[in-house]
Amino acid sequence: MPTPAAVLCGLGTSLPARSVSNSRLIAENDLDSDERWILERTGIAARRLADSRTSTGDLAEAAGRAALDSAAELAGAPVRPDIVLLATTTPDHRCPATAPEVAHRLGLSGVPALDLSAACAGFVYATACAQALVTAGLYVRPLVIGSETYSTTLIDPHDRDTAILFGDGAGAVVVRAGTSEEPGALLAQDLGSDGGHAGLIQVPAGGSRRPRGAAGTGPHDDYFRMNGRAVYAHAVRRMTDSARDVLSGTGWSPDDVESFISHQANQRIIDAVGDRLGIPSSRRHGNLRDLGNTAAASIPLALADTAARRRVAPGARTLITGFGGGLAWGAHTLRFPEARPRSYAPHTHHDTDEAP
Ligand code: UT7
Repeated sequence: MPTPAAVLCGLGTSLPARSVSNSRLIAENDLDSDERWILERTGIAARRLADSRTSTGDLAEAAGRAALDSAAELAGAPVRPDIVLLATTTPDHRCPATAPEVAHRLGLSGVPALDLSAACAGFVYATACAQALVTAGLYVRPLVIGSETYSTTLIDPHDRDTAILFGDGAGAVVVRAGTSEEPGALLAQDLGSDGGHAGLIQVPAGGSRRPRGAAGTGPHDDYFRMNGRAVYAHAVRRMTDSARDVLSGTGWSPDDVESFISHQANQRIIDAVGDRLGIPSSRRHGNLRDLGNTAAASIPLALADTAARRRVAPGARTLITGFGGGLAWGAHTLRFPEARPRSYAPHTHHDTDEAP
């Protein structure tokens, strides 16, 4: 029996043009690493890297526009969002939020627009919020964007522990009110956090806890740091548990899952979660090999890539899981969307508005 549901009805992406292979990254950044090690231990062969003029907002605008055009094509009419949620840990400025400017550039001045910070779990958090807003009847057409530029903002290019992992990019979805039997329908959601392990993934300085330049901080404290081994173990456990919760909330067993799209951090993590759940590798989809870890953008980028390659039929029973710093994690069950994804190049924007 169909029930009211929030439905994904448009898919968009935007990627920097420059693709950098493992061997090139090692050579350019003088990393004490090995291209085979990176591929075997992470599953990453290359990543897209933004140039210094391309911001998170530039990528977000292009992905958002692509998702709106994808939704308009499916609907046969222009689509106008009534709220914009931007998941990012790498905003254009520390103040203000990036979402209002992205909304303005999309011709949406006047609609509420906010950034949401949940690191690599940002997209599942933002989608869960959009689902709640739609099913509560408060908004009818959210635009949800995940966009990141880790390489130009948070990552020390000479730190092999992190520089090999992250890439830049953006993915977006349009959400509308509909019913639970339609392709794209979001079904159950599960979210969680554990701030007791906040130190496992952190940029130590530059916030109010340790302001930039405060006693005891060095230039290196402005960069992203991660305890990879500990994060790996948490990621496997939390994503597996969250997936089990959301599957049982939907009334599905792992056998029912026709397509599994996880946060793209490490192929070994994705496979460990898939193996524990009992979802065969033929049903696991993603593009980690080509894009690396794009944080809040990774799930919509993987979703759009899976749709573009027509690997999964519209309506197929789909499981999404995300995990990141915070710690924060989450999962959704949904029916695979039918929208044809679009991808646009980022359009670099210069600050031309009133100076403070
Ligand atoms: O998106 C947010 C969530 N993030 C994640 O989920 C990331 C989770 N963590 C990981 O993906 C993995 O822990 C890493 C890819 C970061 C590291 O892989 P690992 O298998 O956990 O490696 P390790 O830290 O246990 O190190 C194994 C070996 C060490 O050498 P010895 O002590 O065995 O001789 C390291 O020194 O690999 C060495 N190593 C490297 N070698 C070449 C560590 N990093 C590198 C490197 N290149 N970049």
